[in-house]
Amino acid sequence: MTSKLESNKTLAVVIMAAGKGTRLKTRLPKVLHEIGGKPLLSHVVAAASRVVAPEDIYVVIGHQAEKVKAAVAGAGVNFVEQTEQLGTGHAIQSARDSITGYKNILVLSGNVPLIRPEALSHLWQFHQIQRAAMTILTATPEDPFGYGRILRRSKDSSEVEAIVEQKALTPKQQTIREINTGIYAFRTAPLLANLDKLTTENAYNEFVLPQMAALLRSAGERVVAIQADDAAELLGANTLAELVALDSTLRTTYARRLIAAGVTIFRPETCVIDAGVEVAPDTVIEPFVQLLGLTRIGSECLIRSYSVIENCTLGNRVLIRQSCVLADSTIADDAKIGPFAHLRPGCEIGEQAHVGNFVEIKKAKLGKGVKASHLTYLGDAEIGEGTNIGAGVITCNYDGVNKNPTRIGKDVFVGSDSTLVAPVTVEDGAFIGAGSCITRDVPAGSLAVSRARQVTRNGWAAARRARQKKRE
Ligand code: UD1
Repeated sequence: MTSKLESNKTLAVVIMAAGKGTRLKTRLPKVLHEIGGKPLLSHVVAAASRVVAPEDIYVVIGHQAEKVKAAVAGAGVNFVEQTEQLGTGHAIQSARDSITGYKNILVLSGNVPLIRPEALSHLWQFHQIQRAAMTILTATPEDPFGYGRILRRSKDSSEVEAIVEQKALTPKQQTIREINTGIYAFRTAPLLANLDKLTTENAYNEFVLPQMAALLRSAGERVVAIQADDAAELLGANTLAELVALDSTLRTTYARRLIAAGVTIFRPETCVIDAGVEVAPDTVIEPFVQLLGLTRIGSECLIRSYSVIENCTLGNRVLIRQSCVLADSTIADDAKIGPFAHLRPGCEIGEQAHVGNFVEIKKAKLGKGVKASHLTYLGDAEIGEGTNIGAGVITCNYDGVNKNPTRIGKDVFVGSDSTLVAPVTVEDGAFIGAGSCITRDVPAGSLAVSRARQVTRNGWAAARRARQKKRE
């Protein structure tokens, strides 16, 4: 029953992601290298998911399979194991059992990440209209070096004779600029009928999928090519130089999208903005800012240079001064942060609060209008509305074993250079003298001072100098 249903399915997507990526010269598998803040493979899976349902996507994994699997497991796709990586043709041979239930497949490469769903739909439509056994998506980039080239049957024909890999090109074929993007549509029946005819007798000693073009032609099948409008979206990332170029293309696209929506970004080419970032109109972003992960920024904010903001939510009219590092935190309307402030995960900064220079805050909630302006550490703390934290105040939240909380009420004044040894509570309206070490709870409205009383000896300094002079 199941196989009958499956045999009626029209289209699956197979994403080849088992290769090592030796040309990158890194330990990380090629498809896990990131551009735009996401692994290459995640971009490809996202594009494929807009064309077919995730249950009809098969990702071929092999090199560091578990890592690759973990990176896209959340997308609900299927995995096919290619235990030995014997080439792109062998990757499809490994997926044979998975694809037999479909009439057609689209084959994508895990290392061609900028592919848009629209381009895939276009390929799929063309493949159906042409009634082809194999349809190759091609492009004509400025520099075709390294790519397989398309041998058309004649200059104006959509039919293809063969794909020739870079290493096998004759001097004449080297002038061909039309490349194989590594993205194809196949009718499954002729593909499966010819799959075992692939050989390793080529310059790579591998089972290469491009050979399928010539094999299908010899079997009398129709093999066609469709040229993509934009070669840039079909570039592969085989070297680190190509990878960083793709990253730059992608991030420029994100920045342009925000600018078009009313966000001012000065020198956008210097900013690093991830795909998931949202910024409301009338916000201004200065050069060399990084906005990462799922960061959301309200309107009329100013994000000054060299700040790195990751997975944070900012309200409206928030000012982030230069060189702040903010992670996994929320900042309410009209708050001012920095310069050189560090918000570690779990902070909630209230409206109109002010976190100044060299202030580090971790898992702490600052109420409306709280001021911690200079050289302070606040960890595992809750600080009520209107409280002033003096320069150099430290919550001693760690006793060497556990993290303990500090609770400070509303309108409290914590004098400079005080340490609050947690767990400790300072109630509303209390006053803590500068330089105190607070180890016990402070009741509301009281003064707590814990420091040695000052001793002043009149004339002591002059007498000392006189004694010293005598000795000389
Ligand atoms: C491939 C094409 C080339 C095309 C180029 C476009 C081949 C032999 N050549 O070259 O014509 O111009 O794409 O980018 O196909 N993979 C596996 N299993 C393997 C080998 C590779 O899953 O055994 C995967 C890789 O992880 C990668 C993709 O297939 O995601 C492409 O493999 P790669 O070896 O990088 O082929 P290219 O050199 O890019």
